[in-house]
This record gives sequence, structure tokens and C-alpha cells, in this order.
Amino acid sequence: MLHQHSAWPAGRPAPPVGPAGAGALNARGWTSDGAAVEHSIEVRDVHKSFGSFQVLRGLNVGFVDNAITTVLGPSGTGKSVLLKHIVGLLEPDHGEVHVFGKDIWKVSEEERFQLRKRFGVLFQDGALFGSMNLYDNVAFPLRKHTKLSEDAIADRVMQRLKEVGLERSLSKAPGEISGGMRKRAGFARALVMDPDVVMFDEPDSGLDPVRTSLLNDLILQMHAEHGGTYILVTHNIPTARKVSDYVAAVWQGRLVHYGPTEDAFASDDPFLRQFLSGDSAGPLGMD
Ligand SMILES: Nc1ncnc2c1ncn2[C@@H]1O[C@H](COP(=O)(O)OP(=O)(O)O)[C@@H](O)[C@H]1O
Ligand SMILES: [Mg+2]
Repeated sequence: MLHQHSAWPAGRPAPPVGPAGAGALNARGWTSDGAAVEHSIEVRDVHKSFGSFQVLRGLNVGFVDNAITTVLGPSGTGKSVLLKHIVGLLEPDHGEVHVFGKDIWKVSEEERFQLRKRFGVLFQDGALFGSMNLYDNVAFPLRKHTKLSEDAIADRVMQRLKEVGLERSLSKAPGEISGGMRKRAGFARALVMDPDVVMFDEPDSGLDPVRTSLLNDLILQMHAEHGGTYILVTHNIPTARKVSDYVAAVWQGRLVHYGPTEDAFASDDPFLRQFLSGDSAGPLGMD
């Protein structure tokens, strides 16, 4: 599970090419000449309803490995539900979720549990344990999932806390620090197991523009240092523009766009244009 740092050159990773001299990725995560691209995270035709309400309606997406993809889309469109499917917390009614080449619902519970360890997840508020100080919060996954000695754990925890600028706050409780610091602590915890995939669900919600910008810098810096496939759900368009290599757009339970960030911002697609500009005129209404 150790990252090969040399595998992630600086700058934006090139889109993967398929086996048969393939072209650009289209919205379904396939190359333009129809060849399938290998992705560590692949969602195939996933449908999910809650009661009679259809949330995901045939969602297909393959996330580009070792790149940062932002997932954009209106509220209530199924972005968080998508993340929960990827990490195996929700099971599709129909369709498949493949992670690292395995259909997560066709493996044993034990194997699914092992696969989940390769993910780091940062939810909105950092989801820290209120009764533990920051050090113990960051150490928690290591104590739970590894047999590392407390000395080895201390090395890793201190390294992560330093990277997010919290080494001097290690004995503080989450309730004693600011929202921005809680997110950084959550980020340190999400990275402590050296995950191959890091998912952020609206990490910038509730942060002022300056703290959002600092968090974005931190995301870029950590990605440059550790590599990995980052999937970031955000409503913040400047965040999407600044941090992402690729933009995925979800609307009405389906993927409507996946491509390099600059293409998304230059696109003529009415949905993308309206969503990226925050315009009230366009296909998006209040429903
Ligand atoms: N566990 C659940 N039970 C019932 N409804 C849910 C559940 N999770 C999500 N939903 C509904 O699914 C829709 C999509 O939710 P979500 O993925 O959270 O949207 P968003 O794109 O804003 O992240 C919402 O209408 C939400 O109320
Ligand atoms: Mg959400």
C-alpha cells in the first residue's frame, strides 16, 4: 500500500489511454473509440432508490487514477450517495462498483473491509471524535487497523499533523479549535493510513474564502507529495477550477460530463455553463 512517489510526476497526469491506441475519455469513462480504460474506481450503471425516490439512475463513471477529480452537481442530486457507494457503505439496487479491479459486492465481507482500508474519507465537519484530542483522533485508524508500535504510530501521526500545520495543537480537543483546523485534522486522519483513494465531501462547506483557499492549497500539496486518486465533491466553483485535474458533473442521478478541468470551463454544454457560472437561466431549475 506504500505509494511509489516517482509514479506521480508534477503537473496534471495525462488521461489514460486504452489498450487499443484509444482517444479521449468520454462521459462514460470509455475512450472515444470504445476501448475500456482501467480505473481503480469504476461505477457501472448504478441505480439507487430510497423508497419510491430514484436517486441514482444509471450512473457510470471511471475516475482517472492518481488525479484530482471534482464532482459537481446541484444539491440533492446524489453526490454523497455516489461517494457512499464507492466506499461500500451503500449497495446499489442495480449495477456494479469496482474498486481496484474488484466488484465490491461480489467479494467477502472481510475482503470488502480490507478494500475500505485503502480509502481515506473526509466528510463535511471532519467527523472527529469529540472526546479525543487531535493526536488520538489521527492515531485512531492506525491503532484500530494496524499492529504498529506506539513509537511507529507517533512518527506517522506527528508527520501528518506537521503537514497540516497542527503539530502544536495535538493535545487540543476538536471543540477547542476552529472549523478550518478541524478540517485539517480530519484531512490528517484521512491520510494517516496512506490511502490510495481520498474522498472529500464538501470539505469547504462552512469555511470563509481565505480558509477555503488555504485548504485548497493543502489538498494540492498533499496530493503532490503522496499521490493517489482524489475525489472531491464541492459546490465551490473556484475550488473546482483551482484544485481539479478533471471535472465530473452529476445531474439527476447520472454522469453528464467527465473531462479535463479546462475543457469543462470552456464547454458549450448548457448544463455545465449554467452550473459553472451560477446562472439562473438554463436547464437547471429549482426542482
Ligand atoms: N439514507 C438515505 N435514505 C433516504 N434518502 C436518502 C438517503 N441518502 C440520501 N437520500 C436522498 O437522496 C437524495 C440525494 O442525496 P445526496 O447524495 O446527499 O445529495 P447531494 O448531491 O446533495 O450530495 C436526497 O434527496 C436525499 O434526501
Ligand atoms: Mg452531499
